[in-house]
Amino acid sequence: MPLWPVYTGTEEPHDGIAQLPPPPPWRAFDGGPALDPPDAGADASAVSPDRSHRATTYRATPRTVQLVNAALYLRRPLLVTGPPGTGKSSLAYAVARELRLGPVLRWNITSRSTLNDGLYHYDPLSRLYAARRTAGLPVERYGKPPGDSSAGVTGDPSADGSGVEDHLRLGPLGTALLPYTRPRALLIDEIDKSDLDLPNDLLNVLEEGQYEIPELLRTARHRPRGRAEVMVDGTGERVPVEHGRVRCRSFPFVVLTSNGEREFPPAFLRRCVTLRLRQPDDRQLAGIVRAHLGEPDAYAQGLIERFLTRAGAGDLATDQLLNAIYLADASGLDAESLDDLAEQLMPYLGQTPQTDAF
Ligand SMILES: Nc1ncnc2c1ncn2[C@@H]1O[C@H](COP(=O)(O)OP(=O)(O)OP(=O)(O)O)[C@@H](O)[C@H]1O
Ligand SMILES: [Mg+2]
Repeated sequence: MPLWPVYTGTEEPHDGIAQLPPPPPWRAFDGGPALDPPDAGADASAVSPDRSHRATTYRATPRTVQLVNAALYLRRPLLVTGPPGTGKSSLAYAVARELRLGPVLRWNITSRSTLNDGLYHYDPLSRLYAARRTAGLPVERYGKPPGDSSAGVTGDPSADGSGVEDHLRLGPLGTALLPYTRPRALLIDEIDKSDLDLPNDLLNVLEEGQYEIPELLRTARHRPRGRAEVMVDGTGERVPVEHGRVRCRSFPFVVLTSNGEREFPPAFLRRCVTLRLRQPDDRQLAGIVRAHLGEPDAYAQGLIERFLTRAGAGDLATDQLLNAIYLADASGLDAESLDDLAEQLMPYLGQTPQTDAF
């Protein structure tokens, strides 16, 4: 019997991902050579204390659990929308930790991000300099100074394309699509900040589960089995890529986050599972406070209620409440000063509403 849900939203890490049923036929991928996932048994978020804390303290609603599993089963990206501070980014860390998917690959989107930034970075200039150094030629005579990628370098410095892979590093998206035997977790954070073309460009790669690296493709015939060893995102580890093509084997668990103000093209939405996060209610907030700071005392309960009243009138983020409760405990201030401090710590994040009574 298949296991539903694979992701349970509880804190205990487990190997349920190995029992994920086969993908629907239209989402089956067969990339190779197969790669072992990095450190699958280790804590998925042991990259930094902040990420580890986010992963262990995350409280998922039943709806969140449901849609995370839908995305996992369907091998579709999960588009998570919602107001600031509702846990959109943290969700990726929580799922990766519970399902032991290894360190989360993170791609922070800006208005200048392009698909290629996510796939791989190739530095032709550093390769050119390296080739000239090897040949005993002075680097300076060749053109612009190191680091100036605008130098008009065309053609390969060595005709057989040797050394290309030493100057090429896969990005977070490029790494997530490697033929790992279990899904990697990829967080594409704040996709709403992107330029208009990026969602459409992404859509094609995520639909196909594959991409090409022309720099390796062009030079593949000069290598045994067309194989190059390229560096992956985050670590200096190298993995084989054959004939300049990367195709996934287990479709990654992809979380795309958006603050919800941006309209995405229907073709994009159709290919994602969409989860809309809302402001947590009083019970959920108490659970979140408990997870981060322990059982809320009477003062913390009062702050939760006041936070909820205020949140009805404008945008507030859960971590503003967490900050206020933490300080109430840690500062030792009297009740009046605490009230004043809490108000300073919980300003509305968008436009200030007419009635701002705390
Ligand atoms: N469901 C939750 N369970 C536990 N902690 C939560 C939850 N939701 C939010 N938090 C806490 O609130 C803070 C903000 O969460 P997070 O950064 O994931 O929100 P976000 O929706 O990505 O915000 P933004 O839109 O500003 O990027 C974090 O410290 C996180 O731990
Ligand atoms: Mg976020």
